[in-house]
Amino acid sequence: MKGLKTVYICSECGHTQSKWSGQCPSCRAWNCMTEDVVAEEPKAQAKHPTRYAGESVRLDDYEIPEYFRTGTGMSELDRVLGGGIVNGSVVLLAGEPGVGKSTLLLQISGALGLGRKVLYVSGEESKGQIKMRAARLRVSGPNLYLLNETNVDAIVSAHEKLRPDVIIIDSVQTIYSDGIASAPGSVTQVKDAAMKFIGIAKNEGVSVLLVGHVNKEGSIAGPKVLEHMVDAVLYFEGEREHIYRIIRAIKNRFGSTNEIGVFEMTERGLREVPNPSEVMLASRPRNVSGNCAACVMEGTRPLITEIQALTAYTGAPSPRRTSDGIDYNRMYLLIAVLEKRMGLRLSNADVYLNVIGGLRLTETAADAAVALALYSAIKDKPVPDELIAFGEIGLSGEIRAVSGVDQRVSEAIRLGFTRIALPAKCAERLNIDTKGARLIPVRSVFELTTLI
Ligand SMILES: Nc1ncnc2c1ncn2[C@@H]1O[C@H](COP(=O)(O)OP(=O)(O)OP(=O)(O)O)[C@@H](O)[C@H]1O
Ligand SMILES: [Mg+2]
Ligand SMILES: [Zn+2]
Repeated sequence: MKGLKTVYICSECGHTQSKWSGQCPSCRAWNCMTEDVVAEEPKAQAKHPTRYAGESVRLDDYEIPEYFRTGTGMSELDRVLGGGIVNGSVVLLAGEPGVGKSTLLLQISGALGLGRKVLYVSGEESKGQIKMRAARLRVSGPNLYLLNETNVDAIVSAHEKLRPDVIIIDSVQTIYSDGIASAPGSVTQVKDAAMKFIGIAKNEGVSVLLVGHVNKEGSIAGPKVLEHMVDAVLYFEGEREHIYRIIRAIKNRFGSTNEIGVFEMTERGLREVPNPSEVMLASRPRNVSGNCAACVMEGTRPLITEIQALTAYTGAPSPRRTSDGIDYNRMYLLIAVLEKRMGLRLSNADVYLNVIGGLRLTETAADAAVALALYSAIKDKPVPDELIAFGEIGLSGEIRAVSGVDQRVSEAIRLGFTRIALPAKCAERLNIDTKGARLIPVRSVFELTTLI
């Protein structure tokens, strides 16, 4: 085509070059150069539409603006956002196909629509499909508007006519601009669309929620640069087979990124799970080796779940190691500690680790439970039902102190655990009524394994 040229754009950092390469020369990421078509001479406007323009002001003279937040009607989501959606902010909700992104946004549209005008733009589903879902979810309201559109300028005009307070774009990968030659979903298209919506949000105080698809590698399809542009990035996780869904913030300019929200997918849509520990433990197998309850902090909230380990002897030269929910490096480290410090032989055993409820544990405080589950699996000795363990394990096999001890112990007691193994250092500092539960201070992996 005339006036156009093919370029390769890094989906991680936005670096542009005329030739393809396996590695981005700018940020050194691999397999991230995507083909794109751009104008020979980029229009000044397309390059950097102004987000903010104005005079400089002395910081001392500037008053703190009030960031009004609007509740979404779901406290699990509000907590992840830091207390509701900030007016004038742009939130990206990313997740794999079918996880429930459209469902969640339609549900919160219902709640947001109680006080504010909401425009739900879908580039993926017809109004009929959305209406059917709305009927199933019991979502309705006079302030809720639907639009089937993928052209960014048409969406902007619809916005100017309707003047909504909240705009939902499902999904940002379907949106395109006439001025850009490449296909919807390409780096330039997604960036351009995001720029326009960010402009609307910042200049007019409209809250924008963008749906982003996630590719097989687990990153947002299209540019990583999109994550840098928006105010908050939420990941919606969960396997389609599991009914539990977890939302976590991986970036938030208006709140912490530690909190998670737990939901359950039902026929009537997503239901909040305010007490996830109960749910995680609900179908606990009894008296089976390889299982151990763990207590992790998810933000300010303690959460009890179960670690499952399975070991099976194999003649294969390199045994299998798989983990669902526990970091691979952590698994290897704990296996090495058990081999070296406890004299266990795992070099001829396949090891499978799993965390109940599709949870992904990032805390080292789960080490003690993982080690105990592994030990229990190898020895084929069940961990007693009433026993729970937490604590970080060091390379010498020592059990190290962790934070949030009062919360963890309280949650364990609340859920009926009567023997709580914890780092000895933590036991000294504990300051709560244990209601008859026994605290067992442990100093080493060896001491821990004597409990079963
Ligand atoms: N009648 C139903 N009863 C129970 N659950 C349902 C029903 N219909 C759909 N679901 C659930 O909703 C999920 C799809 O939700 P939704 O369409 O919101 O996902 P999405 O993330 O927007 O997907 P996509 O990426 O395809 O747009 C299904 O995977 C299923 O779990
Ligand atoms: Mg959808
Ligand atoms: Zn790059």
